[in-house]
Amino acid sequence: MIRRPRAAITGWPVAHSRSPLVHGHWLKKYGLAGDYIRLPVAPEDAERFYRHFGESGLVGCNVTVPHKETAAAACDELDEAARAMGAVNTLWLDGDGRLCGANTDGIGFLGNLDQRAPGWDARPGPAVVLGAGGAARAVVWALRARGFAPVKIFNRTTEKASQLADHFGFGVEAYPWDKLCEHLGQAALLVNTTAAGMTGKPPLQIDLDGLPKDALVTDIIYTPLETDLLRQAAARGNRTVDGLGMLLHQAAPGFERWFGVRPEVDDELRRIVLADLGATT
Ligand code: ATR
Repeated sequence: MIRRPRAAITGWPVAHSRSPLVHGHWLKKYGLAGDYIRLPVAPEDAERFYRHFGESGLVGCNVTVPHKETAAAACDELDEAARAMGAVNTLWLDGDGRLCGANTDGIGFLGNLDQRAPGWDARPGPAVVLGAGGAARAVVWALRARGFAPVKIFNRTTEKASQLADHFGFGVEAYPWDKLCEHLGQAALLVNTTAAGMTGKPPLQIDLDGLPKDALVTDIIYTPLETDLLRQAAARGNRTVDGLGMLLHQAAPGFERWFGVRPEVDDELRRIVLADLGATT
């Protein structure tokens, strides 16, 4: 008997994850037999869970905070992005039962910009990244993979920006937050990866005056969909891309691994997730 493939979002907590909505939509759209469930994994159980993933009954899973590093350490194989980041968000078992891990957050970031701002990387000049957390790590990896240099990281806590820049080395630089104005003038791209500007968090206070009008501005926040940063940037004529597509695109490679179909990120999926965000935030 062929088992119905089952995948999951794992992390702690997972109650608010939109991944079941995204994968559930694709399973229905492509008429596939399979399930995608929420599976909370308590921090004290995480190491054991990922090390013995074969016993879970899952064909694979997504991994969210705070387990991305623990899961990476449990993998037998990592893709290039996961190796560079030391963190995974997507796991699957290969034919021999070996645990494989990928980090598709950076791919999701690129897929979103490719779809919504075609040609955005034609001039891979200086990029400014705000923030130095896990999301920044994926964005910096993605920008370096597309040839952007220098990638300049600005963070409220400069030390964390320096650590991230050191981690990547060549082509990545760290600066204190208060030096941002001096660097915006050369930027081809501005990315916010901080939590500032998210619903319920303090606003991102930033003066875009020096930013070239042809620079692309993007935020990885998607609640609200149009952050103050994006509104401000659009008002002065900059091209902008919201963060929802990163969430949708990062999900696609896992779906393909587990269920065998490369899913499309289309307007219908965007509408479904937006409606859910509107109902719950
Ligand atoms: P994630 O993994 O989602 O990136 P994180 O690791 O908690 O989350 O990182 C959050 C980022 O948002 C950090 O860069 C944080 O700056 P600090 O390193 O100084 O804490 C940044 N951040 C959060 N709130 C901020 C605010 N009000 N202004 C500027 N930066 C902020």
